[in-house]
Amino acid sequence: MATPQRIKHILSAGAPGETLTIQGWVRTKRSAKKFTFIEVNDGSSMNGLQVIAPEDIPDYAAHMERISTGASVKISGTLAESPGKGQRVELQAEQITVFGESDGETYPLQKKRHSFEFLRTIGHLRSRTNTLGAVFRVRNACANAIHEFFQTRSFLWMHTPILTASDCEGAGEMFTVTRFNLDDLKALPKNDSGNTDFSQDFFGKPAYLTVSGQLEAEIMAMAFSNVYTFGPTFRAENSNTARHLAEFWMVEPEMAFCDLEGNMDLAEAFLKHVFSRVLETCADDMEFFNKRIDNTVLETADNIINSDFARITYTEAIALLESTIKKGDKTFEFPVSWGIDLQSEHERYLAEEHFKKPVIVTDYPAEIKAFYMRLNDDGKTVAAMDVLAPRIGEIIGGAQREERLDVLERRIAEAGLPKEDYWWYLDLRRYGTVPHAGFGLGFERLVQFMTGMANIRDVIPFPRTPDNLEF
Ligand code: 4AD
Ligand code: MG
Repeated sequence: MATPQRIKHILSAGAPGETLTIQGWVRTKRSAKKFTFIEVNDGSSMNGLQVIAPEDIPDYAAHMERISTGASVKISGTLAESPGKGQRVELQAEQITVFGESDGETYPLQKKRHSFEFLRTIGHLRSRTNTLGAVFRVRNACANAIHEFFQTRSFLWMHTPILTASDCEGAGEMFTVTRFNLDDLKALPKNDSGNTDFSQDFFGKPAYLTVSGQLEAEIMAMAFSNVYTFGPTFRAENSNTARHLAEFWMVEPEMAFCDLEGNMDLAEAFLKHVFSRVLETCADDMEFFNKRIDNTVLETADNIINSDFARITYTEAIALLESTIKKGDKTFEFPVSWGIDLQSEHERYLAEEHFKKPVIVTDYPAEIKAFYMRLNDDGKTVAAMDVLAPRIGEIIGGAQREERLDVLERRIAEAGLPKEDYWWYLDLRRYGTVPHAGFGLGFERLVQFMTGMANIRDVIPFPRTPDNLEF
């Protein structure tokens, strides 16, 4: 028998009369008088392949006894034009192998619709549903489009470390990594000043899971000009929201010889590219999201691809919000005044209701942003940029970096960070410093934005959030 083919390929290119083999999991089984309809899905596409098993094939009765929703099968046969609607071809089975049965009494994914909350409790099975299947195919297509975008522009993909010694964002939201075991943790070795003696730990000093690959990406950009990272990052912030994960993936390009404007241009071109590639490569899945999850998904994608993003400064954004409140057009839970960190409700108002498209907000107060952002001439704002998206809020955060040694030293001191820890970062400003800029895209927030999925836990295969660590 021929080597098994993927169902996606058969649905688009299979010719009636062709003999072939498929493998997959049974979605539905429906018996008629002299044959049985079996829908098989192998994960390659939203639609499965309709199989007709006639009663004269070998071991028909025994196979039909064993086959139920969730069972795994291999089926060989001949393709035929399908008289049924919704599919071009169907498979006339000639030979069936059942790899594994699936107990109909206990298999949780029966035909009815399940809530996403319920599906999260069966994270090992939920990827077999239509929605999660579509999510993870789109996620894969996004990742591919991201690499394609950077690779065709001569950006080098750099693998930055997961274990780190420095707090990039300076926000102290890091997970500590230690080889002290559970027994050691009961009585950690102490140094003379009474603190934990990390010199006895694996690295001889405190170690953490990275919150961002940016600082290491900056090092590499100072040799290769344009680089990007794409990997997991970790934050120990106790945010139990539909947009926060403790472990999430981030894409971080970093460009030498680039200012804030070039950074904004790259971010906009980047999102446009990813959206248009995913629409091309996952058309069925995107249709599905538009029909079943959020009927603005395709319109949003079209909007991203075809219209310019709005661009305003933080100061303008605050003025806009203040006048909206004054006019009584909108009320917010959190008060608005110059100097506040924009809350999600403010970000969403700007993108969703005011501009009705992504908006790039720039030049935030230095006080609310990280130490590495370039200080503007006004002495109180920095060359930061956040890209805010309808429904999501902040999807990208970035900045032009502080390339001046003296200013950077001052900023590190003001942030209360130990200068010794950043000796190498300061060295980059001593030896051939250049204006440079970059940003970080929250990968799961992108997938949420693309698919309309309401909860970030449903766009990553194995979500990690406070009090939740399965598998
Ligand atoms: O704005 P952030 O903190 O920026 C940085 O980490 C910079 N070092 C990036 C850079 O300039 N290279 O995070 C970047 C993005 C956010 O805009 C958001 O989309 C996402 O990462 N993000 C999260 N996504 C899911 N769960 C969380 N807890 C997230 N925190 C940030
Ligand atoms: Mg941010």
